[in-house]
Amino acid sequence: MISVVDLSKYFGGIHAVENVSLNIEKGSITGLIGPNGAGKTTLFNVVAGVFKPTSGNVYLDGEDVTALEPHQLFKKGLLRTFQIAHEFSSLTVLENLMVVPGDQAGEQLRHTWFNFKQVCENEEQIREKAREVIDFLEVSHLENELARNLSGGQKKLLELGRTMMVDAKIVFLDEVGAGVNRTLLKTIGTSIQRLNEERGYTFCMIEHDMDFIARMCDPVIVMAEGKLLTQGTVEEVKNNEEVIEAYLGTGRKHKTGSEA
Ligand SMILES: Nc1ncnc2c1ncn2[C@@H]1O[C@H](COP(=O)(O)OP(=O)(O)O)[C@@H](O)[C@H]1O
Ligand SMILES: [Mg+2]
Repeated sequence: MISVVDLSKYFGGIHAVENVSLNIEKGSITGLIGPNGAGKTTLFNVVAGVFKPTSGNVYLDGEDVTALEPHQLFKKGLLRTFQIAHEFSSLTVLENLMVVPGDQAGEQLRHTWFNFKQVCENEEQIREKAREVIDFLEVSHLENELARNLSGGQKKLLELGRTMMVDAKIVFLDEVGAGVNRTLLKTIGTSIQRLNEERGYTFCMIEHDMDFIARMCDPVIVMAEGKLLTQGTVEEVKNNEEVIEAYLGTGRKHKTGSEA
């Protein structure tokens, strides 16, 4: 579904991503792991169109999408979840789902002027869809809660819910488990698996929680120092000497903690 070919992204002298080639198979839940500073987030941002690569290409279903902007990729079903933006924190969960950009007739002014009835019907459909998403994620009790009152994990669920308002094909999740308690992480994990199995979503996720990765992901791709180290099942990569060395080696070179 996604092919990354010889991709590099430099920030001045920093080679954040260097000559990475990889494939993400349709229908997979692919894990992306590696020590801090490995280039994982940068790779996501290049694939999602946030950064243009220094060199290399990204293909979506065989189409070269390297030059596309995030909103164009979004329309093609390639989504990267984002934290709920500040201006949406005073909207409810339901409203946050309803404002996800789509082909909503109400967004086009001429429709508003000339076809008021259609806009109303359309808004009703969107509301219905948002309610479906809320049911799917089993957060009906939060429907009218303001986004700013949600816990970290509930916000992540809402971010996931936003991908369900459009026809997502592949969703990129960066550290979905960060700051999320165990119980809610399980709920998020179950939702991801159901979206994968029942709705055909492909996922690629960065995560530090290796238990979560082991439970969810096949295959797992490992990056270190901007490069792709290896790819395989969790068991394979866990026992790979280079991977072990990358984690230990980085532990010696850098102080812990600082996450870009
Ligand atoms: N916007 C940026 N400007 C300059 N350097 C950056 C930027 N983003 C990331 N980097 C650098 O690129 C390297 C990879 O970072 P990142 O992709 O965030 O790694 P990871 O997500 O694997 O922890 C790091 O050395 C980081 O400091
Ligand atoms: Mg990162």
